[in-house]
Amino acid sequence: MIKKYTFGTPFPTESIVVPIEPSQGLPEYGEINLEDGFTFTYHMDPEDLVYGLGEANRGINKRGYVYTSNCSDNPNHLEDTVSLYGAHNFIVVSGVLTFGLYIDYPSSLTFDIGFTRTDELVIHCQETDLDLYIIEGDDAYHITRQFRKMIGRSYIPPKFAFGFGQSRWGYRTTEDFLEVARGYRDNHIPIDMIYMDIDYMEEYKDFTVNKEFTDFPAFVENMKKDGIRLIPIIDAGVKIEKGYEIYEEGVKNNYFCKKEDGSDFIAAVWPGYTHLPDVLNPEARKWFGSKYRLLTEQGIEGFWNDMNEPAIFYTPEGIQNIKNKMKAFITQEENKDDVWHIQNQVMSLANSPADLASFYHNINGSMVCHEKLHNLYGFNMTRAAGEALQSISPEKRCLLFSRSSYIGMHRYGGIWTGDNKSWWSHILLNLKMLPSLNMCGFLYTGADLGGFGADTSRDLLLRWLALGVFTPLMRNHAALGTREQECYQFEHVEDFRHIIGVRYRLLPYLYSEYMKAALTDDMFFKPLAFDFPGDSMAANVEDQLMLGGELMIAPVYTQNAKGRYVYLPEEMMFIQFLPDGEISEEILPQGHHYISVPLNVVPLFIRQDRCIPLADVAECVSQINTDHLKLIGYKGSSYLLYEDDGYTRDYDLKGNCRRVG
Ligand code: NOJ
Repeated sequence: MIKKYTFGTPFPTESIVVPIEPSQGLPEYGEINLEDGFTFTYHMDPEDLVYGLGEANRGINKRGYVYTSNCSDNPNHLEDTVSLYGAHNFIVVSGVLTFGLYIDYPSSLTFDIGFTRTDELVIHCQETDLDLYIIEGDDAYHITRQFRKMIGRSYIPPKFAFGFGQSRWGYRTTEDFLEVARGYRDNHIPIDMIYMDIDYMEEYKDFTVNKEFTDFPAFVENMKKDGIRLIPIIDAGVKIEKGYEIYEEGVKNNYFCKKEDGSDFIAAVWPGYTHLPDVLNPEARKWFGSKYRLLTEQGIEGFWNDMNEPAIFYTPEGIQNIKNKMKAFITQEENKDDVWHIQNQVMSLANSPADLASFYHNINGSMVCHEKLHNLYGFNMTRAAGEALQSISPEKRCLLFSRSSYIGMHRYGGIWTGDNKSWWSHILLNLKMLPSLNMCGFLYTGADLGGFGADTSRDLLLRWLALGVFTPLMRNHAALGTREQECYQFEHVEDFRHIIGVRYRLLPYLYSEYMKAALTDDMFFKPLAFDFPGDSMAANVEDQLMLGGELMIAPVYTQNAKGRYVYLPEEMMFIQFLPDGEISEEILPQGHHYISVPLNVVPLFIRQDRCIPLADVAECVSQINTDHLKLIGYKGSSYLLYEDDGYTRDYDLKGNCRRVG
């Protein structure tokens, strides 16, 4: 049962696909106050848990902290970070009363979940124009599935996108990319994708390639012959440069965001000053999307959209303001210099709220200030690409994922979780986000394995990869200036070959479960409590996940740990993929256990009376042979395998499932 309550005149975000008639009166749950913006208050029972919020910080159970939906370019994911790149306003309160709550509101919105007052859930935003949905159901999982039906089917990538990918900010020349390809192929570490970060472009101009690529289509084609797809990045900002086609067309047709005086808004990002395509305007969105063809025509089959919160390093106005303050600072005579003030001023140039409030979108001919719909920018940039790729390539799926997002974007692409660090705590953060992201429709997702910022270490990378083996998007990515992080850079390369090899052995199963989840609006990763709702112990588990219908995962995420404790809500089979290719199976009873997990072992658990198929190791997805699948797990059980050609958009459960075992 879903009830919709409309307040004021909400902006049509298009996050919902099923029409729902507004209910009269006020919701049965919580209290609403419209005196100072919108405030929803609910008194929580001490035992209530709160799930959701997608790409948010902290636990699977969100209770105990405050979170703000305000898409932010923030490379420091600290424990007190309240906003990351996405805005996913769906939560489920589970306890004495269990209900779901979705606030469709595209500007800044705060969820105080027992932070200010331990027993209060307070949701607040400044304006009173929004849709509030209350979703009732049997339990948190049932409520989530209803919500997923409301927001439409999740994005489905091509099968190659379930392979492993290598990325690094700094690859620039054909030789850089060939070196990575050789590093993997020569060491027989499986790989399907190499990502092209900003340096492949000519001066960071979207849809261009730099002069190092003398024959780009031939290069793309040769890589493909080697089983490797090149996946370029596309940034939101379009470089201001006379003669650059995208810039000229955008200016001529008024396709860029405007300032109040009608001039094109200027923001600095990697290329220097840029304009932002007004992707909220359908005509401009279509135009920007059509540019992806410039690269698909050269053989490209996938993209990652970046800097689309949008990220702004500074604006001419911001710089002028600082210069004025600097002048005053320099001419100050006495020793009363407010150093911290001037330092703060400089530091707060990037992504300044004042800049984000100083430009406008053309919405049906009216100028609407960006800050009122800030959280929709990344969504609509990716929608631009998704819609265009659908028309450019109606038959074949394309790989597409974004940094910034809002619910609704999950229909057009996946997301990666942005600029994490090579920190052990970020392995756990990665794990905790996964079920929450799935609740909000984002199934194709993963983190920068090994960590983006800071220097990784061999053990950290191996442990993180052993989680990444299970995430639909499995990509190693690192920042410019950090230690080289490609798997072949480390000692005992055979350990990396083995761990990534396990991904390819599991791939038929992972793909099958992904497709089943996407086609039935279900989750791929779940908190344990979703599968074991009556188990109070399972409700507290924050470092293990259920995966699909058969598995539980429990990665090791602690430095120097030789293993870890796990909680089994039922009897399960503990599987270890050993470095010599053997698989160890051990049935463990319900309860707590300590498991030893060496660095070069991938652990997983198979649920009672279930089994999963395993392929032989392959070095790229197209080489995986699903005619020879081996079953592991409980004897006498069988598995319903979903399998399709992996690239057409013709996916349907009917006709594509076969029972193995
Ligand atoms: C920010 C992105 O989050 C990161 O992944 C990328 O490497 C840099 N931009 C450079 O493009």
